[in-house]
Amino acid sequence: MIETKGFNIPIVGLGTWALRGRNCARLTEQAIRIGYRHIDTAQMYDNEREVGEGVRASGLRPEVIVTTKVQPTMLAPHDLERSVKESLAKLRLDVIDLLLIHWPNPRVPLSETFGAMAKMKQEGYVRQIGVSNFTVALLAEANRISAEPLACNQIECHPFLNQDKVIAACRGYKMAVVAYSPIARGGAKGNELLETIGRSYKKTAAQVCLRWLVQQGIIVIPRTSKVERLAENFALFDFELTDGEMRDIAGLARRGGRIVDWTWSPRWD
Ligand SMILES: NC(=O)c1ccc[n+]([C@@H]2O[C@H](COP(=O)([O-])OP(=O)(O)OC[C@H]3O[C@@H](n4cnc5c(N)ncnc54)[C@H](OP(=O)(O)O)[C@@H]3O)[C@@H](O)[C@H]2O)c1
Repeated sequence: MIETKGFNIPIVGLGTWALRGRNCARLTEQAIRIGYRHIDTAQMYDNEREVGEGVRASGLRPEVIVTTKVQPTMLAPHDLERSVKESLAKLRLDVIDLLLIHWPNPRVPLSETFGAMAKMKQEGYVRQIGVSNFTVALLAEANRISAEPLACNQIECHPFLNQDKVIAACRGYKMAVVAYSPIARGGAKGNELLETIGRSYKKTAAQVCLRWLVQQGIIVIPRTSKVERLAENFALFDFELTDGEMRDIAGLARRGGRIVDWTWSPRWD
């Protein structure tokens, strides 16, 4: 559990991008049954209906944090309100636990978006708000403008990409860091260093990769379409990497290590 602005976010969540239909609902339900208490979706993933179905089927709704995100094209106040109400209708849940701006949109002033986010919170549609894909500069602006505390910044984060600056900025604002693509879209598997370290703990490379993040207090939201991997990606708390291993893994960062294309966003620097 990571405590941020009085709000607790479980340190391991399930990512759901690209999960669809029955499989998405089944995986969500199964993940909650084996202990996940944090599910990540987005309006853009077109699976909020199935995520909500899985959460309700688990019978554990009150214990689960559900995150959804507003698309960059819906950040003007009127659109944002419509988007939130639509998300809630699809999820068929009482409230959105954590609402994020999915990507910044330079055509909509942040002050307008945060005004609408605050209104949604004050009116009880969402419990907490945060951001995703925000740079150091945008974090400064966001924290200056937002009337409501920002719980987190969800960013691409794994050993192949150095995110030290934006992580330090989040810590400065006491925002949680949520790592997306935390196993580098499956790229951890087969990496020699991660595999070697894994062997010494009887763990897989993916588990070592996720452990490296959680050991830094970073929340992870790995995605899998396979039920058997849900347990693997959750079994991160019965081993501890040494300081030397933590440093060696950090050394895997390289230029061009980013997976998700952000270049369309002119506000990113
Ligand atoms: N805010 C944003 O802009 C943003 C952007 C991207 C992603 N996200 C969120 O972050 C979540 C996670 O990121 P992601 O989906 O990009 O990538 P990821 O979780 O790093 O990787 C998912 C891939 O890894 C494979 N995998 C899962 N567990 C594995 C294991 N134990 N061993 C080997 N391979 C494994 C999966 O294949 P199988 O299905 O075959 O297991 C899948 O192909 C997304 O689902 C989404 O919720 C947010």
